[in-house]
Parts: sequence; C-alpha cells; structure tokens
Amino acid sequence: MAATRTFPLFLSAALHVFVLCSASSEADTLLSFKSSIEDPNHSLSTWSHSSSPSPAHYYCNWAGVSCTANPPFQVTALNLQALNLSGEISASVCELRSLSYLNLADNLFNQPIPLELSLCTSLETLNLSNNLIWGTVPDQIALFSSLKVLDLSRNHIEGKIPDSIGALKDLQVLNLGSNLLSGNVPPIFGNFTELVVLDLSENAYLASEILGDFGKLVRLEQLLLQRSGFHGGIPDSFAGLQSLAILDLSQNNLTGGISQTVVASLKNLVSFDVSQNRLAGSFPDGFCGAKGLIELSLHTNLLNGSVPESIHECLNLEKFQIQNNDFSGEFPSGLWSLPKIKVVRAENNRFSGDIPDSVSMATKLEQVQIDNNSFTGKIPKGLGLVKSLYRFSGSLNKFEGEIPPNFCDSPVMSIVNLSHNALSGQIPELTKCRRLVSLALADNSLTGEIPLSLADLSVLTYLDLSANNLTGPIPQQFQNLKLALLNVSFNQLSGRVPYALVSGLPASFLQGNLGLCGPGLSTPCLDDQPSRHKTRITTLTYALISVAFGVGVLIVAAGFFVYHKSSKQKQQRGVWRSVFFYPLRVTEQDLIMGMDEKTAAGGGGAFGRVYVLSLPSGELIAVKKLVNFGIHSSKALKSEIKTLAKTRHKSIAKILGFFHSDESIFVIYEFVPGGSLADLLFRPNFQLQWSFRFRIAIGVAQGLAYLHKDYVPRLLHRNVKSSNILLDTEFNPKLTDFALDQVVGEAAFQTIVVSELASSCYSAPGFLRSFLPKCSC
Ligand SMILES: *[C@@H]1O[C@H](CO)[C@@H](O)[C@H](O)[C@H]1NC(C)=O
Ligand SMILES: *[C@@H]1O[C@H](CO)[C@@H](O)[C@H](O)[C@H]1NC(C)=O
Ligand SMILES: *[C@@H]1O[C@H](CO)[C@@H](O)[C@H](O)[C@H]1NC(C)=O
Ligand SMILES: *[C@@H]1O[C@H](CO)[C@@H](O)[C@H](O)[C@H]1NC(C)=O
Ligand SMILES: *[C@@H]1O[C@H](CO)[C@@H](O)[C@H](O)[C@H]1NC(C)=O
Ligand SMILES: *[C@@H]1O[C@H](CO)[C@@H](O)[C@H](O)[C@H]1NC(C)=O
Ligand SMILES: *[C@@H]1O[C@H](CO)[C@@H](O)[C@H](O)[C@H]1NC(C)=O
Ligand SMILES: *[C@@H]1O[C@H](CO)[C@@H](O)[C@H](O)[C@H]1NC(C)=O
Ligand SMILES: *[C@@H]1O[C@H](CO)[C@@H](O)[C@H](O)[C@H]1NC(C)=O
Ligand SMILES: *[C@@H]1O[C@H](CO)[C@@H](O)[C@H](O)[C@H]1NC(C)=O
Repeated sequence: MAATRTFPLFLSAALHVFVLCSASSEADTLLSFKSSIEDPNHSLSTWSHSSSPSPAHYYCNWAGVSCTANPPFQVTALNLQALNLSGEISASVCELRSLSYLNLADNLFNQPIPLELSLCTSLETLNLSNNLIWGTVPDQIALFSSLKVLDLSRNHIEGKIPDSIGALKDLQVLNLGSNLLSGNVPPIFGNFTELVVLDLSENAYLASEILGDFGKLVRLEQLLLQRSGFHGGIPDSFAGLQSLAILDLSQNNLTGGISQTVVASLKNLVSFDVSQNRLAGSFPDGFCGAKGLIELSLHTNLLNGSVPESIHECLNLEKFQIQNNDFSGEFPSGLWSLPKIKVVRAENNRFSGDIPDSVSMATKLEQVQIDNNSFTGKIPKGLGLVKSLYRFSGSLNKFEGEIPPNFCDSPVMSIVNLSHNALSGQIPELTKCRRLVSLALADNSLTGEIPLSLADLSVLTYLDLSANNLTGPIPQQFQNLKLALLNVSFNQLSGRVPYALVSGLPASFLQGNLGLCGPGLSTPCLDDQPSRHKTRITTLTYALISVAFGVGVLIVAAGFFVYHKSSKQKQQRGVWRSVFFYPLRVTEQDLIMGMDEKTAAGGGGAFGRVYVLSLPSGELIAVKKLVNFGIHSSKALKSEIKTLAKTRHKSIAKILGFFHSDESIFVIYEFVPGGSLADLLFRPNFQLQWSFRFRIAIGVAQGLAYLHKDYVPRLLHRNVKSSNILLDTEFNPKLTDFALDQVVGEAAFQTIVVSELASSCYSAPGFLRSFLPKCSC
C-alpha cells in the first residue's frame, strides 16, 4: 500500500515541478505580451501573477486564454476580440510554442501588418479584422506559411496584393475585404487549392478582371467579390467551382453574359448575386440544378429575354430579385406558389401574365414588387390568404377587376401600391391590416365611397386615392389619422372637407372634386350659416389656421409639386432606402413597424414626430420623421445627412443613420434618456440646481461653437430652443434637430418654422428676421 502510494506521489511531484516551470514561462510570456498592449478598460486585469498559484496552470483561466487539456497546459489560443486594445502586437507571443489561434479582431491596433508574428510556428489562425491596420501587404506575407486562416478585413490596408501571397498554400480562409487595396489581382489564386472562403469585397480601388484561375478552387464555398472594382466577364472556368455555395459579385462593373454552362455546374449554390453590374444577354436556365438555392439576385443589369418556367423547380428559393432589367414574356407562374418564397422583385421589366390564385400556397411570402410591367388579370383572392405579406406593389400594370375584399387581411401588411392600373368596383373595407402605413390606389376606375374603416388604421401615413371615380364625402374621422399626405384629387367627392386636413400636415390634395367645400377651397359650404357658437369657432379657427398655416400649406403644396415633377425621372419610386452610419442590425421595415402611437414620444414639434424604438440588442434609438419634399436625390440626401452625422461632439446628439422613401425621411438619433430641457422647464414643480443650469448653458454654448465654427463644413443650427436641447441623466445637454434646412430644403424649413412661430412667439436666433410674423405676446 505504501509503495503504491509513493510512486504516484513522486510522479506528481515531478510533474508539478515541470508544470510550474512551464507555468511560469507561459505566464511570463503572456505578461510580456500584455506589457506592450494598452488596455484602457482593464479587460486583461485577470492577467497577473497570483501569489498562491493554484491551480498551477492558473494562467489558463485568464481572460481569452485557452490551453491544452492536459499537462503541461500550453497555451493554444488567445481570443482577445473586441476589448478596445491598442499599442503594439509583440512577437513575444510566439514564445507560446503551441499557440495556433490568435484573434485580435475588433480592437484598435494601429500599425502595419505585424510580420513578426510569422515567428509563431504553430499559428494557424490570425484574425486582425476590424482594427486600424495600415500600410501595404508586403512580400514577406509569404513568411506566414503555416497559416490556414488569415483575416485582415476591415482595416486600412492599401496597395497591390503581392504575388508572393501565393506561397500561403495551406490557406482555407483568406479575407482581405473592406480595405483600400488597389490595382490588379495577381494571377496566383490557383495556388490556394485548400481555399474555402475568399473575400476581396469592398475594395473600391481594385481595378481588375476576375481571373480564370479562380475556377481552380474546387473546395471554395464562398467567393465574395462584391463592391470592388472588378470588370470584364464572369470566366467560363467558374464551372469548376464545384463546392461553391455563396457567390457575390454584386456592385462591380461586370459585362458579358451569365453562362448557362457555369450556372448548371454549380450544384451546391445557396446564394447567387450578380446584381448591379452591366451584365447582358438572357436568363440562364439551370439554376434549380442546385437544390439548395435560396437567393437569386440578378437585378439592375441589362439582361433581357424571358425567364424560364423551370425556375419553379427551385423549391428552396426564398429571394428572387430580377428588377431593373429588360426581361419580357410571361412571368413564370410557378414561382408564385413556391413553398418558401419570401421576396419577389421584378419591377421595371416588361413582364406579362397574371398572378395565379395558387399564390395562396406561398405561405411565407412577405414582399412583392412588380411595378411597371404589363401584368394583367385580377388581383387574386389567394393573395389575401398569405398572412406574412407586408408589401405589395404592383403599380403601373394592367390589373383589372375588383380588389378582393380580403385583400388586406395580412396582419402585417404595411405598403400597398396599386396605382395606375385598371381596377374597378369599390374599395373594400380594410379592417384587418392594422399596420398599413401607405395605401396608393391612384389612377384606377374605382367607384363608390371612401371606406370609413380607413380612419381606424392608426398608422396610416400616406393615402393616395386620386384619379378615380370615388363619390361621397371625405370621412370626418380622417382627422384622427396622422397622415403626412392625402391625395384625393380628381374624383367626384363632395361635402365638407374636415378642417384638420387643410391645416399644415397632411399635405392634402383635393382639386378636381367639384362637390367639395370648406375652408381652403374655392367653394364655401352651403350649410355655413351656423349658430353663434359655431361661428365663433369658425372665426377663431380661420384666424389661427388660415393665417398661421395658410402660407404653410401653400408652400408645402408647392414643395410637393416640385417634388412630384422632379421625381418623374427617378426610378424605383416608393422604395425604402436606408443608410446606417452605425451597425444597427435592423431593417427599415422593422423600424417602420415599430413606429406607432405607443412609441411616439411627446408632441414631436413642427418638423415631425419622434418615436423611441428599441433595437434587437435592447438599445434605444430615437427616430424623427420628416416629410420628404423631394428636393434632394437619394444620393444628395445621403451626402447631406452624412455631413450632419459626421459631427462629433459631446454636446451634439449623434445621428446614427436614416432611411427614406419618396414620401418621408426618418432620421435616426441616439436616444438621450433625460428628455428635453423644455420638458424640464415646463414641469409644474420645476427646480434645478445652479450647477446643472451652468452645465447646460456651457454645454449648449460649446456644442453651438463646434457646429458654427469648428466643424467643417460649418453648420448653422437655425432652430435652437429648449425642446431641441436634450439632457442625459447627469444634465449634460445634447443639441438635436440642427441644420434641418439641409435635409428638408430652405423653402420647407421656413414654412415649418413660420408655422411654429405662430404658436410659440419664440424665434430661434438662427432664423431669418424677415420671416417673423407680427407677434403680440
Ligand atoms: C473604455 O475605455 C475608453 C477609453 O478610455 C472609455 O472611453 C470607455 O468609456 C471605456 N468603456 C468602459 C465600458 O469602461
Ligand atoms: C470599448 O469602448 C467603448 C467606448 O469607448 C465602450 O462602449 C465599450 O464598452 C468598451 N469595451 C469594453 C470591452 O470595455
Ligand atoms: C475574425 O473575427 C471576427 C470578429 O469576431 C469574426 O467576425 C470573423 O468571422 C473572424 N474571421 C474568421 C475568418 O473567423
Ligand atoms: C504556386 O505554386 C507553385 C507550385 O506549387 C509554386 O511553384 C509557385 O511558386 C507558387 N506561386 C507563388 C506565387 O508562390
Ligand atoms: C465601368 O466600365 C466603363 C467602361 O468600361 C467605365 O466607363 C466606367 O467608368 C466603369 N465604372 C466604374 C464604376 O468603374
Ligand atoms: C436582347 O438584347 C440583345 C442586344 O443587347 C438583342 O440582340 C436581343 O435581340 C435581345 N433579346 C430579346 C429577347 O429581346
Ligand atoms: C418603367 O420601366 C422602364 C424599363 O422597362 C423604364 O425605362 C421606365 O423608366 C420605368 N418607369 C418608371 C416610372 O419607373
Ligand atoms: C395627386 O394626384 C394627382 C392625380 O393623380 C397627381 O397629378 C398629383 O401629382 C398628386 N399629387 C401628389 C403630391 O402626389
Ligand atoms: C369615371 O369618370 C370619368 C369622367 O368623369 C368617366 O369618363 C368614366 O366613364 C367613369 N368611369 C367609371 C368606371 O365610372
Ligand atoms: C405608387 O406607385 C407609383 C407608380 O409607380 C409611384 O409614383 C408612387 O410614388 C407609389 N406610391 C407609393 C406610396 O409608394
């Protein structure tokens, strides 16, 4: 018994000594690596010698450190992702003999590619994604010959990709995406025979053809070349990419056709995206040979001819996007009943055919955009049975017959556009689509009255029923809606126009209805010989509304006409476009759906309502809704708002992004929890320590000084007032709603500010004196 005990004891003692030795050296190495790193958030605070080292391999419990499972407990992996680390990546880490995985992604390392790490002989994965790595890819990159995974994406690496990179023959993942690489891609990619993922996307300065030797990469599963500078054709050798699942060549300058042989060879395709190039020729047959195909995007090219009916064999297809081409012929009817289809976009082509009733089998369908084609037939009842549909736009086609009564039965339906068709009969009562935001039925032959149920759709914002044969009144209940635009012009409507519809927003378009009467119209109503009570209200309302807002309505109207005219040339109208300056991980649809009475915050002010929404991450954002007066193109709008968003000051509310359609612009601000200074001032028991008042005053002054003087280009706030000064929980002020004139345009800006003056008698210092109305308070 004694003997059996002694032996293991001895062994364990020996091991202990060994482990301690190695422990001290592995731990020392880690600490020496740490010593050159700056760690402002003390993320590596666990990295320190412990006085009573127990267990012996205590360093294996340090943040981000992984070791072998058994003695001598060597460090195999360091995962130090997203810790705000900067400083120097020291080669001392290579003394960790077994280190095979080093992930420093999402930090702030600001240096050239750390070639010294090639001394790490066991290193297989090096991930430096999303740092501030700069400089070129040097020839010595060849020294990393043991690497299997190299991720240098999302840095500032520039210059040509050197030929020598071809020496990294064992690479399985090479990601150089989102850098500043330029010039031609070297003809060495055939060397990467093990490659599974190749990402050269978002290198705008690359100017290269896609080389034929890419086709040799038989193991390649993902080829991501989108938004770079590739031109020329898609090589026939792509037929060799037998493992390819994801191909993204979108937003380059590719020409030529899409080869049927290539398409038919790619049996493992899941996603095929060649959108936004200059590809021509016909739609290749054979995509459905890839049974797993989920996404097919050919949009915005110069493709023509018909789409083969065989597309209905793609049973897993979810997204089908072929808009903005020159396709013609019968639209493949089988596509409408694919069991998994979610998105069908085919607008701006020349398709004919109808939507079959079997569309009810597409139970996952969310979005259909087929505007500006030659579709015929009725809107099928089957469409109303699809409960996931949130957008249907089929304007500018030849749809006819009645709109089926169940048409808006999908509980998530938000956008309907059936303008410019040949629909007849009555507009059905829409009671189930409580989320309807936009309904456009203009230019059909609809008859009967405007259904009352529309007034119960609480988020309805845009209503265009113009150019039909509608009769009867505009329902008084419409006053309860928060409409931004109401167009009922050119019908046969009659009766009194509800006041709220002619005062400020919504911008109402009523002309061409001879029977309509009331304020703002040439015909006064005959029953306006009212009781004294009524007269008083009328006079008062006239005084307030006509004087204060009359000018406003006119200018808003003018704005809309300008907008309408100029947008005639625009394509893809009514489409949401979003630009996020921060990763928000939501879609504009999610945001739009979130905006309702519950999320609306306070009064909102004259420029538009503000909604407080929570992101999937739980973070809150504030979204401000503005009317899009259409004075900027999409591109110009982006650059205007980007100018505002690039401001960086502690006293300026950050703009996180925006999204817009032709009707509205939604500006996304950081959420500031303390409400506005106005909220605080008008609280009944208002009290505030002088130190906080001082803090607010100084903060506002600094913020303004920054906008007006330090920021390039200089911005004028033009609407400084207490409701535009937000406060955080410590009463630090943040200015918001600055320089909105840049977004909505000067004319609309002045109109809106004037209309606001009427009710407040306060004028912001940045606002033109000449626009001040006579004010008696
Ligand atoms: C991390 O450090 C940075 C720089 O010192 C600081 O601005 C930031 O607030 C810190 N974040 C946390 C969560 O400690
Ligand atoms: C990094 O810094 C940012 C702000 O500077 C902070 O929000 C974040 O929490 C920090 N991350 C860590 C891991 O401390
Ligand atoms: C590198 O790290 C980033 C951030 O965690 C991650 O998104 C990316 O997938 C990693 N790269 C590879 C090739 O694993
Ligand atoms: C590519 O591989 C071949 C053969 O393995 C080799 O001779 C050549 O040097 C490699 N190219 C580069 C650029 O390393
Ligand atoms: C695309 O190619 C055409 C002609 O080759 C050239 O004129 C155009 O500038 C290119 N566009 C881009 C974005 O590179
Ligand atoms: C497609 O376009 C090409 C020219 O770009 C033309 O020759 C061909 O006739 C067109 N095909 C169809 C079906 O319109
Ligand atoms: C309709 O599509 C054609 C191309 O088929 C395009 O030229 C035209 O501009 C589009 N019209 C609208 C209003 O978008
Ligand atoms: C209102 O409808 C009429 C008739 O369809 C149209 O001419 C006008 O441009 C529309 N106005 C707006 C602002 O949409
Ligand atoms: C609609 O009204 C127009 C003009 O008022 C008339 O020509 C047309 O026949 C009417 N259409 C229907 C379907 O009533
Ligand atoms: C509806 O479609 C027409 C024609 O494509 C377009 O002019 C209009 O802006 C669209 N309306 C909405 C609200 O999307």
